[in-house]
Amino acid sequence: MCGIIAISSDKQVAAALLAALKQLEYRGYDSAGLATLEKNKIHTARAQGKLAALEQKLKTRAPPGSTGIGHTRWATHGRPSEQNAHPVIAEVGGKSENAVAVVHNGIIENHAKLKQELARQNLAFHTDTDTEVIAQLTSLNLAAGLPPLEAVTETLKRLEGAFALAFLFSRDDTVIGARRGSPLAVGQSDNTLALGSDVLALAPIARQIAYLEEGDIVVLSGDTPRLFNAAGENIQPQWKAISPSSLQIGKGQYQHFMQKEIYEQPAVVGETLDSFLDPARLRASFPEFPFDTGSLRKVLLSACGTAYYATVAAQYWIEGVAGLPCSAEIASELRYRDPALGGTDLAVFVSQSGETMDTLEAARMVARAGVSRLAVVNQGESTLARECEMSLLTRAGAEIGVASTKAFTTQLALLGCFALELARAGGVSDERLRAYGSALMELPSRLYEALTLDERVSAIAADISRARHALYLGRGAMYPLALEGALKLKEISYIHAEGYPGGEMKHGPLALVDDEMPVIVLAPSGPLFGKIASNAEEVMARGGRVLLISDAEGLASFGGEPEWVLEMPSCDVFVQPILYALPVQLLAYYAACHRGTDVDQPRNLAKSVTVE
Ligand code: AGP
Repeated sequence: MCGIIAISSDKQVAAALLAALKQLEYRGYDSAGLATLEKNKIHTARAQGKLAALEQKLKTRAPPGSTGIGHTRWATHGRPSEQNAHPVIAEVGGKSENAVAVVHNGIIENHAKLKQELARQNLAFHTDTDTEVIAQLTSLNLAAGLPPLEAVTETLKRLEGAFALAFLFSRDDTVIGARRGSPLAVGQSDNTLALGSDVLALAPIARQIAYLEEGDIVVLSGDTPRLFNAAGENIQPQWKAISPSSLQIGKGQYQHFMQKEIYEQPAVVGETLDSFLDPARLRASFPEFPFDTGSLRKVLLSACGTAYYATVAAQYWIEGVAGLPCSAEIASELRYRDPALGGTDLAVFVSQSGETMDTLEAARMVARAGVSRLAVVNQGESTLARECEMSLLTRAGAEIGVASTKAFTTQLALLGCFALELARAGGVSDERLRAYGSALMELPSRLYEALTLDERVSAIAADISRARHALYLGRGAMYPLALEGALKLKEISYIHAEGYPGGEMKHGPLALVDDEMPVIVLAPSGPLFGKIASNAEEVMARGGRVLLISDAEGLASFGGEPEWVLEMPSCDVFVQPILYALPVQLLAYYAACHRGTDVDQPRNLAKSVTVE
């Protein structure tokens, strides 16, 4: 996904645009740029690579003007380059009055067809982006005599696909924003109007914000924005006050956002539990659902990436604790699989950003089948939260590191409470539920204890970081943690890693074992410890290098001598999947640090994949 910002104010905006782009950089960092307007001329500055490259450029020449737009890119069409960086400019007929600059988050599905049509009108294209067709169409409409708002409206009618857009015009001091499928918010404070992809970008410059709905168009000119809905009616923004302090993002004393967010987990898991667990009665506590939790026949869970692994863990809880049939599905597979949804009364979609296109489209598909949908999101105003019948908010706070950490553990904490709610509705005894509730209540303390392993993990990670491949093993609800550990390692250290169910080793992966590939075995004490311990011993018997992650009880009963050992705090089996996220996060983090990769902005990735 990309980040877009627009500011219209009474003072020079280049620095404010750059500051806002810094708040948005986690959304994409292939290239960046901005455009400003001064005396009916559009000035631009663009750079390939991280925002620092643009910042360097601005030091020598900051585009003048008190109105401007900015963009930080995660490339979809057109390789990362200065030429393909936004804002994209068009100026039909070479006439400055037709000049328009555009920044875009999303994908224009019919851009090739539109490009052919425009090329037939002898319009020259200067980028490989899909966005340029938007700029060219709008400039053509301006050249035909349409004023900016109509020129944009006519352009939008031609577009298929998803977009959040901001337009800057040379002919008058107006910025126009539009939303279809990608988030966009309008902000206001004294003498400043702004548009941004999310509240993080707007918090430093606005005192109140309003989110655009699907199909909305907003015009920034004069003192207050004019908002139009999809039907073209002028409507009032639903303003919400924001305080900049609550949304300023900084690393504090940490080296990376990911490290900070790993360390925030005891607190934010505690806050999430505060929302969904009654500490007095030690039972789940949820707002009223729009469905009867006691009569559900089957629950479908679906998400992408790390969020998907949270649903796999939740599947073990919902079936094992609540006794309710449940399946966990990768959203990008679910949406094309034509699933048999008969008997599925509820679908739960999990997403930190609430903007992941595959998850959104899977949720839309399920809605068409008449299934109730529950969103578990970290962004309360996100598209997924808006489109589902009900949304539940994890309390992770802003997660800036591309690698999901506190979002994951707060998703698990919420889903653990949800499983207890389903169990209660299904008649599971209060005594059993109180035991699970008590385990959840102790979790923040166990997470704090696990953080004391930091230095030990860093030392082990120094060894692991020299490997080219790694294997993670887990059984039961620790299997999704093996998947998550492998994903963390590969996405930030670029070491190839696989997560596998321990029982599958003898069906093939045992052939991989050699004296180079670390095998990380998640083996907390519990009913499956003997089984997963045997898997570790099978690996060691063949000269394999094992990192055994267990607790005092498990380590005391383990028969072999693993190369590395991590002793975790003991905890109830129910919460082990949440607690054991910490060592695999720290292992990946320090392996990446040892390898010198970009921990917070790993190559080729973006924080939320809002395209397919
Ligand atoms: C995990 O570390 C990645 N950032 C990625 O897999 C992420 O979990 C996935 O893209 C889903 O994002 P979402 O939670 O915003 O939907």
